[in-house]
Formats: sequence, structure tokens, C-alpha cells
Amino acid sequence: MGFIGSGNIGSTIARLAVEAGHQVVLSNSRGPETLADTVAELGPRASAGTSGEAAAAGDIVVVTVPVKAFPDLSAAPLVGKTVIDTCNYGPERDGHIPELDSESLTSSELLLRYIPDARVVKAFNNIFYKHLLSLARPAGAPDRSYLPIAGDSAPAKAAVTEFIESIGYGVVDAGRLADSWRQATGTPVWGTPYGPFSNEEGQPVGEDAIRVALATAKR
Ligand SMILES: NC(=O)c1ccc[n+]([C@@H]2O[C@H](COP(=O)([O-])OP(=O)(O)OC[C@H]3O[C@@H](n4cnc5c(N)ncnc54)[C@H](OP(=O)(O)O)[C@@H]3O)[C@@H](O)[C@H]2O)c1
Repeated sequence: MGFIGSGNIGSTIARLAVEAGHQVVLSNSRGPETLADTVAELGPRASAGTSGEAAAAGDIVVVTVPVKAFPDLSAAPLVGKTVIDTCNYGPERDGHIPELDSESLTSSELLLRYIPDARVVKAFNNIFYKHLLSLARPAGAPDRSYLPIAGDSAPAKAAVTEFIESIGYGVVDAGRLADSWRQATGTPVWGTPYGPFSNEEGQPVGEDAIRVALATAKR
């Protein structure tokens, strides 16, 4: 697994990945040396590199940065790669992006403009990073939680599903990248089902609840 961005959500996915036996290569904007503490904490399955090295290393690459950083991404190392996009648009952080304000594009479709030959799958954007850590459960657990994924490539969605299942969650197919507005910031499936941010434990959310929340989203 390669990580472009290793902040709250990126490092949490990396931690779950390492615990599940995956190798991870982390990167950020400031350089690998600034990730030494995180890598040491994650143990021998983790290392740090440049964004290009992280992209090259991963069978799956997680892009987990502010949306305003999309123009900085290098397309070349992501050609043909399955890319998980965790990113949410927030004008207060990202500045105003006309295509996202007008909802003519989802943020994942915007990402695809910068990395056009990647196979982008939206995932993890709807769960608070502390809940993601605390709600992971082994396959077969009665209180396993579910996460929506959206993407245009069936093989990429299958690979992402296998990864998510390996780190403790079930998956609900939420359609294509154009449909991923249904899991964007402020929709019924975003944050709320897993409990308030003030409760770091969160609450498990089953498959049906995720399906209903996706179906009731309105633009
Ligand atoms: N926090 C959550 O619970 C949560 C949940 C779901 C989705 N999300 C979304 O996921 C994304 C990441 O959120 P976060 O909370 O993890 O953010 P964060 O803690 O601020 O981390 C952002 C990461 O992106 C890196 N980065 C920024 N610009 C970059 C660039 N040009 N090239 C490479 N790396 C760059 C940062 O590196 P430096 O530190 O070196 O600048 C940092 O590692 C956001 O779009 C957010 O909306 C967040």
C-alpha cells in the first residue's frame, strides 16, 4: 500500500493495514524524514518515501490529502494504479473550486482530471478517523461496520473491497464516481451513522443502514 498523505486518516488506514499484514510506504508534503516517528510506531512493515516512491510501491495507492493539493499530484507514477480517494472538499480549507461549488463534478471526478490514467475508488471519506480505528472488527463479527465505495472500474473496486475487508470492514457498492456525491460531506452517510465525533469509540453501522443512508441523500 502506498500513501500520498499520511495525516489523520492516512496514518489510521496505514495502521489498520499494517495490523492486517500489509506493507505500507508513507509520504507527505514535507519529506520522508518527517515521518520517522510514525514509521517507527507502525513497525517493520512500514517505511517512508517521497510521494513518487509511495505511488510506485503500492498495488493500491491511497490519496489522502486536502483537495487543494490535487494539482500537486504526479500523474505518471499512478498510471494504471488502483487509487483510493479519501478526500472531502471544504471551501474553508481548500478555497472555492467552481466545479465542486456548482456540483458539476464530484471531488473524485476532479481528482481523476489530475491523475487520468489511475483507477480511482472513493472510500473512507465518510468516517471520522478515530471511529475508523475503533470500529474495525474481524470478518464474521456480528458488529462489523460497513463503508460505502464508489468507482468506475470493477477490478479496482474488487481490489479495494478485498483490502477494506482485510482491515476490518464490510463494503457497500455506492455506484460510480459520478454517484460519489451521495457519500460527500454533509450527506446522511457522512460521519453521523458512526456516532458523534465527541465519542471516540463510535457505534457500529451495518450494511442496511449504509444502504438506506446512501438512498436518502439529496443534492
Ligand atoms: N480527518 C478525518 O477524520 C477524515 C476522514 C475522512 C476523510 N478525510 C479527508 O481525507 C483527506 C486527508 O484528511 P486528514 O484529516 O488526514 O488531513 P491531515 O491530517 O491534514 O493530513 C493531510 C496529509 O496530506 C499531506 N499533504 C498535503 N499536501 C500534500 C501534497 N501536495 N503532496 C503530498 N502530501 C500532501 C500532508 O502532509 P504534510 O503534513 O507534510 O503537509 C498530510 O500528511 C482530506 O481531504 C479530508 O477531508 C478526513
